[in-house]
Amino acid sequence: MVVWAITHHDTLQELLADPRVGKNAQLWTTFREGRLPEGWPLLNFVTVPGMVTADGADHRRLRSLVTQAFTPRRIAELAPAVERRAAELLDGLAGLEGGFDLREHFAYPLPMWVIGSLLGLEQEQQDALHELSNTLVSSSATPQAAIAAQQGLYALLGSVVAAKRERPGDDLTSDLIAAREAGDRLSEQELVGTLLLMLVAGHETTLNLITNAVRALLAHPAQLKLVLDGAADWSAVVEETLRYDSPVGQFPLRYASEDIPVGDVVIRRGEALLASYAAAGRDSGHHPDADAFDITREGTRHLSFGHGPHFCLGAGLARLEAETALRGLFGRYPGLRPVDGAQAEPIASFVSNSVRKLMVRVD
Ligand code: HEM
Repeated sequence: MVVWAITHHDTLQELLADPRVGKNAQLWTTFREGRLPEGWPLLNFVTVPGMVTADGADHRRLRSLVTQAFTPRRIAELAPAVERRAAELLDGLAGLEGGFDLREHFAYPLPMWVIGSLLGLEQEQQDALHELSNTLVSSSATPQAAIAAQQGLYALLGSVVAAKRERPGDDLTSDLIAAREAGDRLSEQELVGTLLLMLVAGHETTLNLITNAVRALLAHPAQLKLVLDGAADWSAVVEETLRYDSPVGQFPLRYASEDIPVGDVVIRRGEALLASYAAAGRDSGHHPDADAFDITREGTRHLSFGHGPHFCLGAGLARLEAETALRGLFGRYPGLRPVDGAQAEPIASFVSNSVRKLMVRVD
């Protein structure tokens, strides 16, 4: 199958907002003709029923059901709870002598707790869902494992919906169930698909952002010093990390609904496009000295939260979480350092861009 990877910042920005580019898989000839193999690891990204695979009015309907949970006011209201949870997790790090995986002990539990609380999930459900969602974003899973993970996720989220139907709570899952029951605005499949999307988008990405930011700062001590001395702020670290090491490496897929000339090629109607966010962040035609991690860049413009109608719904929340995490971590442990000789192995994923482990010491 042929897919166009869009790696240049300006071209990507244009195509993400181009009305001739859609996200409904029915636009894709390969999909429509049933030519995708069963268990294809990216199938879920293409078929999950929800806003991320919808266009136009359908997209607006699905997106509008959850937007009110992410207004700037709602996010500001979450700030004290995020701060408290980060502080608790940081307390726990003090006991981990001799080096530990920052990803497992800090970068993962914070965003998972935030999205888990928003969706009203129990702790055991969160851990089980994380395991399954990891397989889902890992494009190296075998077809059997990909199918099993997808079925497991739908089954677990289905049981969450059933339990919330019995006993609604003050959470987004209960709000979505109420919206479904109040009218015909959301099918049962879309309800579960939306939960799946919120869960995966809400934690895998922010986990990568926190990991990638800490990793970049530890590799560039002079940049870290600028923040610790007050010469730059944490939001500059977050924006530069998003550009330099985009948490979403590439996002599948979009499709041309008509022929689209791009430079000296033509993307034909029915062909697929891949938004290559990590590559766009390093496009030297757009970012001067693109491979340098430099938090003092003027007006960092990246596309790492997407662009156009599918711009990330959780961008404000992700920024809040990452800034809180970094400020808290380096405030409490300014001497944080990498474990000597630890390998930084990349995650084997087409979508998720980070390292498997980030071994650090605080003692
Ligand atoms: C969409 C990145 C955090 C919810 C997107 C897209 C990107 C992205 C690139 C566009 C995908 C595309 O169509 O090409 C990120 C990054 C994050 C992050 C880098 C953290 C560092 C979050 C969080 C949430 C969230 C915390 C929710 C709690 C969503 C949703 C969409 C989305 C629902 C789909 C929007 C739509 O299709 O209209 N995100 N995201 N994201 N994101 Fe995020």
